[in-house]
Amino acid sequence: MKENKIPYKTYLDESEIPTKWYNVRADMKNKPAPLLNPATLKPMTAEELSPVFCDELIAQELNNTDAYIDIPEEIQDFYKMYRPSPLIRAYFLEKALDTPAKIYYKFEGNNTSGSHKLNSAIAQAYYAKKQGLKGVTTETGAGQWGTALSMACSYFGLDCKVYMVKVSYEQKPFRREVMRTYGASVTPSPSMTTEIGRKILEAHPGTTGSLGCAISEAVEVATHTEGYRYVLGSVLNQVLLHQSIIGLECKTAFDKLGVKPDIIIGCAGGGSNLGGLISPFMGEKLRGEADYRFIAVEPASCPSFTRGKYAYDFCDTGMVCPLAKMYTLGSGFIPSANHAGGLRYHGMSSILSQLYDDGLMEATSVEQTAVFEAAEKFARVEGILPAPESSHAIRVAIDEALKCKETGEEKTILFGLTGTGYFDMVAYEKFNDGVMTDYIPTDEDLAKGFAGLPEVNL
Ligand SMILES: Cc1ncc(COP(=O)(O)O)c(C=O)c1O
Repeated sequence: MKENKIPYKTYLDESEIPTKWYNVRADMKNKPAPLLNPATLKPMTAEELSPVFCDELIAQELNNTDAYIDIPEEIQDFYKMYRPSPLIRAYFLEKALDTPAKIYYKFEGNNTSGSHKLNSAIAQAYYAKKQGLKGVTTETGAGQWGTALSMACSYFGLDCKVYMVKVSYEQKPFRREVMRTYGASVTPSPSMTTEIGRKILEAHPGTTGSLGCAISEAVEVATHTEGYRYVLGSVLNQVLLHQSIIGLECKTAFDKLGVKPDIIIGCAGGGSNLGGLISPFMGEKLRGEADYRFIAVEPASCPSFTRGKYAYDFCDTGMVCPLAKMYTLGSGFIPSANHAGGLRYHGMSSILSQLYDDGLMEATSVEQTAVFEAAEKFARVEGILPAPESSHAIRVAIDEALKCKETGEEKTILFGLTGTGYFDMVAYEKFNDGVMTDYIPTDEDLAKGFAGLPEVNL
């Protein structure tokens, strides 16, 4: 072990768990672009959003001004079941890499859902319950969000209907059963249970589905069922707000240790964990109080930031949702079925898109075999079996640490370890058997997605 006073794990006291979420939009000079009504192309009002989302969540979605928002006591109590999450110094990984870099990770996998998604699921279920709703509908890709939401709904006695991307439904029967154990109903998407599902199946028979399809189905069911609303596990401003608990805990822990990270790295699907992790640090950067390098890591097979367009687009394949301005591959883009795990969404959080466009954040893409190589190295030395999504961040953290080895720089690197990979063993099996392949869409593949972008002249 290295001579160092920094402990392996830094846990905050229960009393230090944040009691307010931090809303980075309050400190952004260029605010994220508003959601647009697809019919009028005007910013969506709270009233227009109310058939889809819960009222308090709409208020949070539209709130660009309050820097701090109180976390209701019931949510704080739930957080105490599995928070604070540990900030871990990766001494064993540092040793294995023989790097002078100091590597830390914030581990969000210590709950039954196995990921950070529970941080927002419990908040969204709470507001639905408070509004007197009967239940909520949602989509899930790899299954972590659906699992987290089913846990949160069972805690508050709400019904939960999950549309699960078909490829994951088939590959991950155990995740499906966890959701059902918590009382959720799970339907593979696209399905024949909705009008939009039937249309998509007619147009693309045999499709393995996408998050965009599953969102359309879940929204249709929510808006056609009395006492239901739709909830989303990523992308939206409100979700990044709830996930700020990750970054706030990190910041407090680092302050206690007297450490300041130089580079902060997170995987990016729709942007919620990354947004939550970086928010308080980005706030400091925006206010001119400190500087950090932020790196978003996405799969080369679904490269929204690195090869996407910054444009208004539909959030779903069925084009029933509001338009969001974001880095996008087009709502019709369906990632190759060879891509394991999550991070398959065509778009990206509007907040992160604006920060990236303003040059305040970097992005990079990585291929999945390189991601699994990093996952395997990490599992063998640090002990935790990482989720494939989280392993994108591990890959780039390792690469940055290896650069430090070349230059001799002692940089401090923080990355988000968003979850565990116990339900991803089909992908691990492919990797272990040496049959995992990489797929990078061609420019022609991407052009098809871009061709479907709506024309918005504001
Ligand atoms: C473990 C894990 N990490 C990361 C992500 C990416 O989502 P987001 O970009 O919203 O954090 C997911 C999404 O499914 C996930 O399950």
